Amino acid sequence: MEADDTVRGLSTSERIAQAERWAAHNYHPLPVVIESAEGAWVTDVDGRRYLDFLAAYSAVNFGHRHPALTAAAHAQLDRLTLTSRAFGSAPFGPFVEAVARLAGKQMVLPMNTGAEAVESAIKISRKWGYDVKGVPADAATIVVAHGNFHGRTTTIVSFSDDPVATTGFGPFTPGFRLVPYGDAAAIEAAIDETTVAVLLEPIQGEAGVIIPPPSYLPEVRAITAARNVLLIADEIQSGLGRTGATFACDLVGVVPDLYLLGKALGGGIVPVSAVVGDREVLGVLHPGEHGSTFGGNPVAAAVGTAVVDLLETGEMQQRAKTMGEVLDARLQRLVGNGVTAVRAVGLWAGVDIDPALGTARQVCERLMARGVLAKDTHGHTVRFAPPLIVTEAELDLALTAFEESLRG
Ligand SMILES: Cc1ncc(COP(=O)(O)O)c(C=O)c1O
Repeated sequence: MEADDTVRGLSTSERIAQAERWAAHNYHPLPVVIESAEGAWVTDVDGRRYLDFLAAYSAVNFGHRHPALTAAAHAQLDRLTLTSRAFGSAPFGPFVEAVARLAGKQMVLPMNTGAEAVESAIKISRKWGYDVKGVPADAATIVVAHGNFHGRTTTIVSFSDDPVATTGFGPFTPGFRLVPYGDAAAIEAAIDETTVAVLLEPIQGEAGVIIPPPSYLPEVRAITAARNVLLIADEIQSGLGRTGATFACDLVGVVPDLYLLGKALGGGIVPVSAVVGDREVLGVLHPGEHGSTFGGNPVAAAVGTAVVDLLETGEMQQRAKTMGEVLDARLQRLVGNGVTAVRAVGLWAGVDIDPALGTARQVCERLMARGVLAKDTHGHTVRFAPPLIVTEAELDLALTAFEESLRG
């Protein structure tokens, strides 16, 4: 038997056992092993089909294997895959120009993962603080919000208030001030002459799709502008169509100094992230001060440019808005019937499960048995983030399955 056939012949439970045996246990996945996918659907190694209502935490916003995106990747794979930034590459310029245009900004720093974009923004805002604002050396502070999730590097978990993210991982990076999320006055009070930036998720994703009051971001924008502090919007999960707008900041008419993009920028194909801002801020970086071998690589650039092309038609944002209304209306009906709260914006919802019915994990397992994949967050919340190409019939299927799963 060919090695390939041996691999193909493994059952779901054998593959799960293999992963458990050989992979670090830093995730607790649902017991499903996916082999192929298209659009909003995935198929497991036993041929069972599921609707994907997580979309890789919004990295698959445009659906699995969107034809325009896979075509861009295939074409680039056949030409040039990597040069590093030591040389230019043909797709690089069009990519950074496209991302800057999408955000209405002047410059782009391409990286790979979301956490790298956040790390990069921390470095850039500190450098801006020293070079432009005049903060004394090594004194810079950044204001961040309770309940934040910006990634898992040592510096980023330094300002997490989730004990799972922090316990056992110190010592931590200093220079961060935590304030309650949704409270602009608390941000104002935390700012002093050392403050270089306020770093926020416009909507907190991992915390359970926490939507701040509509006045929050505009107030934070006004405060940061008045105090000469950068506003950094981490749109890695909220951005690129998910909320019905290109950026969640658009929903409240706010333009931050830096956008952090990731996840869907790579079209669900390759890791692509970026820090996007104006020359006055990103211009503080000089050769050698920051970098990444794979950042802005040709395949990433080709796919990222195709993602921007898709978003520039506005179709994805419109679909998120229209289908989001259907999702919200169906979910709101469940409040008081197994669900204690629903927070929804675009095609993104945090649904709090009545603890009497079980944990969110148990509800996700029941949902999986009915052919829908979603993931719990923080014990009692189920997060829905289907691909933006989901149809009304697919939404109906998934929500009917969810209603049944609440009953047991
Ligand atoms: C808002 C936000 N920022 C940053 C990250 C980190 O992205 P990555 O997992 O690609 O490092 C995430 C991931 O979930 C996120 O939701």
